[in-house]
Amino acid sequence: MIVERLTGVISSLEPSNHPYLNGAWTPLNEEVNAQDLSVVEGAIPPDLDGIYLRNTENQIHQPLGRFHPFDGDGMIHQIDFHGGRADYRNRFVRTRCFAAEQEAKGSLWGGLADPPALSLRPGFGAHGALKDASSTDVVVHAGMALSTFYQCGEGYRLDPHTLETLGVEGWTPLDGISAHAKVDEATGELMFFNYSKHAPYMHYGVVDRDNRLTRYIPVPLPGPRLPHDMAFTERFSILNDLPVFWDPGLLKRNIHAVRLHEGIPSRFAIIPRHGQTSDIRWFEATPTYVLHWLNAYEEGEEIILDGYFQENPTPQPKADAPPGFEHMMAYLDEWSFQPKLHRWRFNLATGATREERLDDRILEFGVFNQQYAGRKYRYAYSTTAKPGWFLFNGFVKHDLETGESVELTLPAGVFASEAPFAPRPGARSEDDGYLVTFVTDENRGTSECLVIDAQRLADGPVCRIALPHKICSGTHACWAPRSQLKGKSAQL
Ligand SMILES: [Fe+2]
Repeated sequence: MIVERLTGVISSLEPSNHPYLNGAWTPLNEEVNAQDLSVVEGAIPPDLDGIYLRNTENQIHQPLGRFHPFDGDGMIHQIDFHGGRADYRNRFVRTRCFAAEQEAKGSLWGGLADPPALSLRPGFGAHGALKDASSTDVVVHAGMALSTFYQCGEGYRLDPHTLETLGVEGWTPLDGISAHAKVDEATGELMFFNYSKHAPYMHYGVVDRDNRLTRYIPVPLPGPRLPHDMAFTERFSILNDLPVFWDPGLLKRNIHAVRLHEGIPSRFAIIPRHGQTSDIRWFEATPTYVLHWLNAYEEGEEIILDGYFQENPTPQPKADAPPGFEHMMAYLDEWSFQPKLHRWRFNLATGATREERLDDRILEFGVFNQQYAGRKYRYAYSTTAKPGWFLFNGFVKHDLETGESVELTLPAGVFASEAPFAPRPGARSEDDGYLVTFVTDENRGTSECLVIDAQRLADGPVCRIALPHKICSGTHACWAPRSQLKGKSAQL
């Protein structure tokens, strides 16, 4: 393994006892290029050809107030597989806020847990006072990477090979784009939405395969909402208006307090992909909050949507958390939210919704073979979480046709990233491919990339690859086959 360490960024972060600035959430400030990574166990499948990209929150500066892990600065990690070998690199997303704080040598914005008045400059997000760290998701669209911020920010384009930040995407609307924009590999289109504190409160947009904004329409809502994710079928996009949102009375005083609003149903907007506001049809369902959807597809007169139904979307503070962190730790703990794999069926003929629980385990952060996005699919891969923590400790594969599932639990102290599916070239079935993930091993203080055969999930990884440094836990990741990539070829 050849490792080139780049000149460090300016950091003012001091040691603390914050549970999400230590252990597997210890921020990483180092940027490296590493060539020909060492294989610890097994062999890199020679047919794995493409890149895995993962976004991560790494706090650079001493927080102005109470740090929340979603406040951290966006860093993209990449592993590039080719001919049975793998290279790695990582870079901060050079957002406008990153540049401003590098120049100031310190924090300029407060975070999610702080009063907006703490920020020293006008901020971003529907919240309005946050640093746009572009730290939540990353997708590949029109051949280039696009990183996004969880509460609506500017979309940042990066070269998928070099991870050079190329700047703000030109079509980013005034209200930004939400964390989860969705790419339909079959058409090359990207669907996105945003939300804000001013009417009409939500918009929906489509960008074509040549990166032209072809649709941007209002989706009027009754007030400010907090949708995080969307889904699509071949013909429709699905947005949501769920009854978990900021308390309207407190919001008038610029206090952002999330509440479950009793008596308000979950609502789903079904929009023809290239439709108008007048084409939107709304469906109602059981009240809940859903952070992430899996897939959606059309079957007869129904639209089928799978996702993770939270049984307890506004949990009580965790009594066993370190003092001062009770509320924050509850809102980062899947075992507090209790998200369960769930199916919604929207009947376009009758307007009725049917719902079905698919699994009673606590699962979230699901992936599937993106070649089946918007189409009928059979296999879903969810993550399991360590009780009490925003840390992934395993995976569950569901066969949605038979209802069977298999599980892989990682060794104690080893925590994974989201594990997108990498189809095997010439695959003969939907699950013919690999799950790719980065793990951090708290026992050894190291990080690795794991490659897991999706047809033999329970057998564990077919390959473990050493990374050149220990990385911080993060949120979302994607896989892009080489055929989808543009940009400069990587040079060490
Ligand atoms: Fe997310």
